[in-house]
Amino acid sequence: KASPRIRQVIGSAIQHLHDWARENELTVDEWMAGVELINEAGRMSDDRRNEGQLVCDVLGLESLVDEITYKLATDASDAPTASAILGPFWRKDAPQRAMGDTIVSGIENGDNTWMHGQVTDYLTGKPIEGAELDIWHTAPNGLYEQQDPDQPDMNLRGRFTTGKDGKYEIYCLRPTSYPIPFDGPAGKILQLLDRHPYRPAHIHFIVTAPGYKPIVTQIFDRRDKYITDDAVFAVKNSLIVDFEPLKGNPKADFELSYDFRLATY
Ligand code: DHB
Ligand code: FE
Repeated sequence: KASPRIRQVIGSAIQHLHDWARENELTVDEWMAGVELINEAGRMSDDRRNEGQLVCDVLGLESLVDEITYKLATDASDAPTASAILGPFWRKDAPQRAMGDTIVSGIENGDNTWMHGQVTDYLTGKPIEGAELDIWHTAPNGLYEQQDPDQPDMNLRGRFTTGKDGKYEIYCLRPTSYPIPFDGPAGKILQLLDRHPYRPAHIHFIVTAPGYKPIVTQIFDRRDKYITDDAVFAVKNSLIVDFEPLKGNPKADFELSYDFRLATY
């Protein structure tokens, strides 16, 4: 038997879809084009490609749902760290790495970055021990590891666990802006709307800790050309960061400092 919530959500979707069709006097041909787009997204999707999610994302739906779901995590500087969309490229079981390790392998032309900070309780400021940071980002060619046969499996991904001081440090790359895959229905929609497929350079995180609400988020490079024009609408002010030039560290040319603030349940 359908739950009241399911009845409400599906019923309302039907009502809005009917209103939308009436308002626009949708023709059979237009409706069929929409059906074909949905079918094409399904045909393109597998473990490595989530076209249905990409379509939702260029329509702004994942970012809207993120905003609705996590509205309590505000963009204020003393609030818990703001959330941002998961996107289609997270993989489970990224390798667990020792604090201070690098997630970069086999990439010569990257801007190596020393990223560090602390995970704290946003109310008390206390460091959180045993917090896990799951990080992933693209290579300089704009591809995540699972999109790119030239990268080692699980490259540019890792899970790091904080000790007593709640601190973390990770060697990664300063990422670049890149287009979301636009050779399918999501790209078609962008093209029909005269929109570009670029996302500003970003690094993804899922931060979890026992007793705390998990945070799915991304941080964005302030200097990126697309910082105010993300194809999937995920940028929030408090998630914009500065990569500072770093001297005297043979392992990195940039430094990035960022703290994560978690809230208890
Ligand atoms: C999307 C999100 C990403 O983080 C990304 O790298 C590419 C696409 C998306 O929301 O569709
Ligand atoms: Fe991404």
